[in-house]
Amino acid sequence: SASATRSSLAHASGIAAVTIVGSGIMGAGIAQVSAHHGKDVRLVDLSEENLARGKAAIEGSLKRVLKKEADVDAAVADVMARITFTSSMEEALKGSDLLVEAVYEDPETKRQIFGVAQQYADDECIFATNTSSLSVNSICNGVRPERFGGLHFFNPVPMLKLVEVIKTDETSDATADALREFAAEVGKEPIVCKDTPGFVVNRLLVPYLQSAVDMMERGDASKEDIDKAMKLGAGMPMGPFELLDVIGLDTAALIINSWVRTHGDTFNATPAIDKLVSDGKFGRKNGEGFYKY
Ligand code: 3HC
Repeated sequence: SASATRSSLAHASGIAAVTIVGSGIMGAGIAQVSAHHGKDVRLVDLSEENLARGKAAIEGSLKRVLKKEADVDAAVADVMARITFTSSMEEALKGSDLLVEAVYEDPETKRQIFGVAQQYADDECIFATNTSSLSVNSICNGVRPERFGGLHFFNPVPMLKLVEVIKTDETSDATADALREFAAEVGKEPIVCKDTPGFVVNRLLVPYLQSAVDMMERGDASKEDIDKAMKLGAGMPMGPFELLDVIGLDTAALIINSWVRTHGDTFNATPAIDKLVSDGKFGRKNGEGFYKY
């Protein structure tokens, strides 16, 4: 049925086929909204196990998004039919107009992926990274720099409307325009920003989250009361500790510690988060972070 697909299948961006590398929370979410809006999606990960986990996450989320459809299972199947799951970069990049890399925040891994992609992708294919904390330019590393940019989605991808389009000094206007257009086509609201640490959202959000942890550590208030305060007094949908557990404390620690290394004048460490991570408490994804799930 066409009803599950919200867009008119227009591809003014020039992007009809999109390859997403990494089937974790972000990659699966990007694949989901792209397929939901009529794109031909190829989701790549190393193992069958990772791909199966990504597939299950997409199906579960689509069931929630499409719960008002007359035939939910058919609507979900209609979207799923537009996603190819593969461990072959060569297969995934055949005829692809856009590559979105969404693997964990390790610059060397990301650079390797774009190096491999460069062998298989068409010359016109735009390369984008969903990094939330690393320099887009350092990930690009000279690989088709005019056609390279950041395309940063937010977690949970199906719910949050924003996409940050990050322009490096070398990203062409045509590339940035195509990325903006693509974001709109998959139901999002794009903004454009420069390649600075944290871009817009995380540059403002992460110090706020760190301040909340510091406040608790000082004993000024409990985490429960801080969460309650920010929800009821500042209209936040989640309190800072609830949100840290959603982001994942491992991810938060990676982001913070990389900024402490590269921009130590601007960002401080948060030892309480590092401690939880070393205790194996990553947040919602593995059952315990600041809270138990
Ligand atoms: N998939 C599909 N539908 C979903 C969903 C998901 N993952 N999450 C929520 N929904 C929909 C469902 O329809 C759900 O109803 P259901 O439970 O009957 O299926 C409905 O939304 C309501 O959801 P909830 O009752 O769970 O809760 P909320 O109304 O609070 O919405 C939220 C959840 C959208 C996550 C909201 O709490 C929120 O916006 N929280 C803040 C998230 C945030 O700030 N994220 C940014 C993190 S920073 C980041 O991503 C950057 C990175 O680089 C670090």
